[in-house]
Amino acid sequence: MKATAIAPANIAFIKYWGKADDVLRLPLNSSLSMNLSGAQTVTTVEFSPDYKHDRIDMTGETMSDKERERVSSHLDRIRMKAGTKLSARVVTKNNFVKGTGIASSASGFAALTVAGCAALGLNLSEKELTILARLGSGSACRSIPDGFVEWVKGYSSDSSFAYSLYPASYWDLRDILVVVQKGQKKVSSTEGMEGLRTSPLWQARIAGMENKIARVKDALEKKDIRLLGETIEEETLNMHTVARSQNPPLLYWTPKTEEIMTVVRKWRSKGLVVYCTIDAGPNVHLICEARDEQEVTKKAKSLTDVWSVGVNKPARGAHVVGDDLF
Ligand code: PMV
Repeated sequence: MKATAIAPANIAFIKYWGKADDVLRLPLNSSLSMNLSGAQTVTTVEFSPDYKHDRIDMTGETMSDKERERVSSHLDRIRMKAGTKLSARVVTKNNFVKGTGIASSASGFAALTVAGCAALGLNLSEKELTILARLGSGSACRSIPDGFVEWVKGYSSDSSFAYSLYPASYWDLRDILVVVQKGQKKVSSTEGMEGLRTSPLWQARIAGMENKIARVKDALEKKDIRLLGETIEEETLNMHTVARSQNPPLLYWTPKTEEIMTVVRKWRSKGLVVYCTIDAGPNVHLICEARDEQEVTKKAKSLTDVWSVGVNKPARGAHVVGDDLF
């Protein structure tokens, strides 16, 4: 009754920001993302009658009681499916700093779902796994299928799932991740999006979604980096403008974030094909094709006062691995 899974974080090209149903985590809009090769979570879960209660640890990081409770609640969902009340030991390890706008909850809940189900011998389909992961953290459902993924918003728990649009090998894109600030962000995305409806702009955001989703899908189909890039920058500005206009307002960017967005426009005006996208944090994801990886990385590394620059390729989704963490 022990299993280990690895799951990638994902970068949202079309972002999930706001729920239609808080308990079921049904989103207000469908979203699209790419799994990231360089930001992964490995999780081992063991259920045993020897454990008197759940014990949950994250290697190299501290966890709050609230975070542990969220993991335990997700274990309850898995236990319920398997019809067991056994407690579990969970050890999880990120190869990136959590809470910086790199979707640690996405890779975390995807790995927990896949490892937990495997440990209890549950034989769920990929679709069922995405539905279960979604209940733990919305964007986690997109870290289960391979490569480029759509989360269909749906209208009920069973119809809100994620699937792979294209495998990781489909398009050799890069996400050069520029970390401008380490450490936990002050407002989590879960808390942040709770205030969505306080923004006078939220309905306009949702009204424009279908068209934007169609453009990103079109860009993926044609492997059109310019159409993809222009649309994801528009989407980033839209999501953050809505977040800034909420009450209380959410300012996820630092001056450095804006500086990078400006300099990327300058690089582009000189012919380098690179675009920005930013999730709920200050770090900037630079999206380009493989042919421009070296130039974009070199330029990103020449920026002053940034913590790190990491290269991500499209990655496969969550899967079971052989090496247990304990
Ligand atoms: O799934 P959560 O609660 O971590 O929310 C993710 C929110 C964004 O990262 C801002 C957008 C997204 O779709 O990943």
